[in-house]
Amino acid sequence: MIIEPRMRGFICLTAHPDGCAQNVKNQIEYVKSKGKINGAKKVLVIGASTGFGLASRITSAFACDAATIGVFFEKEPAPGKTATPGWYNTAAFEDEASKAGLYAKSINGDAFSNEIKEQTIELIKKDLGQVDLVIYSLASPVRTHPVTGVTHRSVLKPIGQTFSNKTVDFHTGIVSQVSIEPANQDDIDNTVVVMGGEDWKMWMEAMKKAGVLADGAMTLAYSYIGPEVTEAVYRKGTIGRAKDHLEATAFEITNDLSTIGGKAFVSVNKALVTQASSAIPVIPLYISLLYKTMKEKGLHEGCIEQMQRLFAERLFTSNEIPLDDKGRIRIDDWEMRDDVQEVVKELWKIAETDNLPTIGDLAGYKNDFLNLFGFGFEEVDYQKDANEMKMISSI
Ligand SMILES: NC(=O)c1ccc[n+]([C@@H]2O[C@H](COP(=O)([O-])OP(=O)(O)OC[C@H]3O[C@@H](n4cnc5c(N)ncnc54)[C@H](O)[C@@H]3O)[C@@H](O)[C@H]2O)c1
Repeated sequence: MIIEPRMRGFICLTAHPDGCAQNVKNQIEYVKSKGKINGAKKVLVIGASTGFGLASRITSAFACDAATIGVFFEKEPAPGKTATPGWYNTAAFEDEASKAGLYAKSINGDAFSNEIKEQTIELIKKDLGQVDLVIYSLASPVRTHPVTGVTHRSVLKPIGQTFSNKTVDFHTGIVSQVSIEPANQDDIDNTVVVMGGEDWKMWMEAMKKAGVLADGAMTLAYSYIGPEVTEAVYRKGTIGRAKDHLEATAFEITNDLSTIGGKAFVSVNKALVTQASSAIPVIPLYISLLYKTMKEKGLHEGCIEQMQRLFAERLFTSNEIPLDDKGRIRIDDWEMRDDVQEVVKELWKIAETDNLPTIGDLAGYKNDFLNLFGFGFEEVDYQKDANEMKMISSI
């Protein structure tokens, strides 16, 4: 079928299998161009189909020659109806891994459930025995708790007071004022249950108990800090509380893994256009100003550049992993550079609908957003019939 982008709010309802494959191929090419990394050889990625998780899987496979198992929650295709992008990304990833002689299998289901944890552990036992790296890269608005059965929903709200600031609708380019009412305690608690560290810890406990973690195994989850302008709605808001919890959980997991010499880390990554970040008010305006500034300074990175640098220059060097004063890995160092943040801060003050296309990288934002769904790649002929029924080999 001919597949075109169909936008609704912050999401695109369609995805292009060939465009998603192109996206994956471009990421693989980038990683290969940077050379091999002497990293983990058996890797589980939870949240492996899009964004930072996909880039982590690609880096593990194509820079470290690792066998990878990917867990994610994507919608498969039906005749006349496209799958979600993560489905097509994974189908393409597995094809490329297979051509390169690399083991790659995937599990599609709710990672928060006991069933998917058990299924993953069984697959590791059967095929790999143990893993030496576990990447935890879930981004979800909802989690059904496996013990209580209660479904919790996360919210993106400030804490303590109403937050008012500028935001942009990146589809129309209109800059407007947004006001978000503060969260109540339930909002905060629910967001921590969904995006905090409890599920990460449950994964690591279950895997340790099952004996599928190698001695010295490492696990890594991703966090964000960001600048002052987004602080009220991000780091000091409900999602920030969840990230505080996630970061604190790393120390608990390290403690739990001490008997096998394992360690848990949180890496603070750069703000990037992903399905998760597009839904956060204020962030798209910040990202479009940030992209413009970082591109002008030659510092811009996407998910794959971030993950390649994380692996090559933080995780797998001959030195100890460098950490900040709160024990976190920082790969948002270029985003947070003073010279970058000073420019963004000044641009923020003057940003409005008329000047955003010039002072910000709205075009870059839109293009990255389209790319997430497999659209906007010049190598792909979008007038050509595409096979929406593209399947993942291992599923
Ligand atoms: N995007 C950013 O700007 C940014 C910056 C720093 C850190 N982070 C963090 O990186 C992590 C990944 O975010 P992203 O932006 O790459 O998100 P994303 O939306 O691109 O990816 C989310 C992944 O989680 C999977 N997933 C969601 N719910 C699931 C479930 N119930 N079961 C199994 N899989 C599920 C999806 O299938 C997908 O693979 C998050 O912790 C996020 O906070 C993001």
